[in-house]
Amino acid sequence: MTIQPDRPLTDPTALAVVVNDVGPRDGLQNQAKVLAPAQRVRLVQALLAAGVQHVEVGAFVSPKAVPAMAGADRVLAELGGVDDATLTVLIPNVRGYELARAAGAKSVCMVVYGSDGMAQANAQMSRQQADAAAAEILGLARADGVRVTATIAVAFECPFDGPVQPALVQDAAAHFLELGADEFCIADTIGAANPAQVRALSRSLVEAHGAGRLGGHFHDTRAMGLANVYAALESGIRKFDASIAGLGGCPFAPGASGNVATEDVVMMLEQMGFVTGIDLARLLQASDLAQELTTTAPGGRASAWLKRQLREKGDGAAGMVVSGRAPRSPG
Ligand code: COA
Ligand code: ZN
Repeated sequence: MTIQPDRPLTDPTALAVVVNDVGPRDGLQNQAKVLAPAQRVRLVQALLAAGVQHVEVGAFVSPKAVPAMAGADRVLAELGGVDDATLTVLIPNVRGYELARAAGAKSVCMVVYGSDGMAQANAQMSRQQADAAAAEILGLARADGVRVTATIAVAFECPFDGPVQPALVQDAAAHFLELGADEFCIADTIGAANPAQVRALSRSLVEAHGAGRLGGHFHDTRAMGLANVYAALESGIRKFDASIAGLGGCPFAPGASGNVATEDVVMMLEQMGFVTGIDLARLLQASDLAQELTTTAPGGRASAWLKRQLREKGDGAAGMVVSGRAPRSPG
């Protein structure tokens, strides 16, 4: 499938792309500065105010392993009134599911693995044990009516065990989608994939399962994050994780840097004619807040340019920016 957003399509939803901001989880878990639950709630609220409808708001993990995610129950409680957005929490094991459920989570992201090394480093389990835990979680979640995303970490390369065979990821997708996962997300946890690999794997998954239940999660360690989003998009995938202000990394995956920045992904998608429902001007305010709270968020690569457009042209600039009608600034 090629991207031709200008061509009238029989399926109007083909132009809609879901952006799931994982900054409050994937982004903040790796910061030296630990934010209080109330500060994390402020960041989530800024994202919601920008029209982001899918946010990963925290993780039910050991606070000893990841101090920055302590108090995820308080984050969920404070966001309890939000019912028009999908707020997801990450869980590494059955205990995490139980805690998330007790805190009222309606959507969970459970992690499975492309390698044993990563399963051990992240969750002190073998890959097979993590698969078994995920199957158990899916059974519980189905009974509870909880939405489940199965995210396969290190879907392309593991920092401990090396390259991951596409067949392993294809088998995992088939297995967990068949078991009833609402979505299967391929995660390039350490940002090691290139667009050719992403396109090949994405195409095979879209061909096997359709695009509706697939997602992509790309880190920008080697500056290929946005290119990898494009490769998956071109292959039909219409849901992407991204992290506000490019925050992040994984504390258990050496060398990983942040996710591709949400503001960069939204700008690219909107300029191409896709529809995210996200207000770029407000998204930049959320990005500023992420930087203010953490003091370390790098910000999107296009932020300086986008902000200049908004400063020079006022609120109307966001539309001009995304439609590509804004004049290019020199240099
Ligand atoms: N949330 C909170 N506490 C948990 C938990 C969870 N999901 N799973 C286990 N625990 C608690 C246990 O109750 C136990 O508590 P205790 O010491 O008070 O009795 C303690 O953690 C140790 O339990 P154990 O099963 O031996 O876990 P472990 O020490 O092998 O650690 C994890 C396993 C999964 C809990 C831990 O490695 C972890 O939280 N990893 C998170 C990884 C992560 O967030 N990665 C980034 C996202 S992909
Ligand atoms: Zn990640």
